[in-house]
Amino acid sequence: MEKVERMQSLAAFGPRQQESQTPVEHSKAEPEVFDYNNVNYQDFWQQTDRRYEDAAERIALRRLTKTMQGSCLEIGCGFGRLVDEYAPRCSEVLLTDCTAHLIEAARQRAASLGLANVECRQLDLYKLEECGRRFDNALCVRVMHHVEDVPAFFRQVNQALAPGGQFVFEYANKRNLLEIGRWLLRRPNVQPFGYQPSRRGSGVFYNFNPAYIRDELRRAGFEPEEVLAVSLFRSQALKRVFGWRLLAGVERLLQKPLAWLRPGPSVFVRARKVSRPESD
Ligand SMILES: C[S@@+](CC[C@H](N)C(=O)[O-])C[C@H]1O[C@@H](n2cnc3c(N)ncnc32)[C@H](O)[C@@H]1O
Repeated sequence: MEKVERMQSLAAFGPRQQESQTPVEHSKAEPEVFDYNNVNYQDFWQQTDRRYEDAAERIALRRLTKTMQGSCLEIGCGFGRLVDEYAPRCSEVLLTDCTAHLIEAARQRAASLGLANVECRQLDLYKLEECGRRFDNALCVRVMHHVEDVPAFFRQVNQALAPGGQFVFEYANKRNLLEIGRWLLRRPNVQPFGYQPSRRGSGVFYNFNPAYIRDELRRAGFEPEEVLAVSLFRSQALKRVFGWRLLAGVERLLQKPLAWLRPGPSVFVRARKVSRPESD
């Protein structure tokens, strides 16, 4: 649980952690992976004060997947928290995650929801070619902050998608208003305007500059089509005072109009595969 709390805070507005100044290393044979084997990720979401975050992400996902059709690959699905949002619109769904106990929980959740079109498979996100087939859609939420080698991951997603396929994903935004405020007060957790991903703490936790994500997406053969600013009110104090329903209701109105500013800790993107990766 402690690990999960730490993961959440590092992905957003958490305790102060030293930012690593080491540039991201992409030449290693195997990128480092965050270990969820001893993490009870279900408990994290069952706590009542996470209802706002869950609602905010579902609002974004509903908006970005409303035209989704055909097959879908979810990458890093955890226990399948979000599968009910999009699987009913798909012909077939493959849920993947590298953690055995989470993929088993996802299998049970899909069965309990009566989703007969859902398969589950333990799979590393750097090895998507092992799916052995191509999908019309790919989805990846709350996973990018564990991705050390973004170019390699985006290339994998490109290869897993059929031509014209869409990729909906979320990433932790280091250039958010709170981080900019901390930076102005000379107490930054990260350098919010730095282009390179910022690694925080000793685990595999990265926060990203939106310009870096956009550039790497394009290099990997994607064109971003829609962006949403998400989890705009991720603050224990705001949740206590206003309650999750009100905050989620206001957020629903703001995710799109504020997307250009990306003021929040989380960004959702819908991108389309337009070509093969540049490096192919
Ligand atoms: C924060 S959880 C998010 C789970 C789910 N997407 C959600 O939003 O509820 C991160 C997930 O990414 C998975 N993950 C981390 N690194 C991975 C990798 N290299 N390959 C596949 N899954 C990975 C973890 O096992 C974990 O289930």
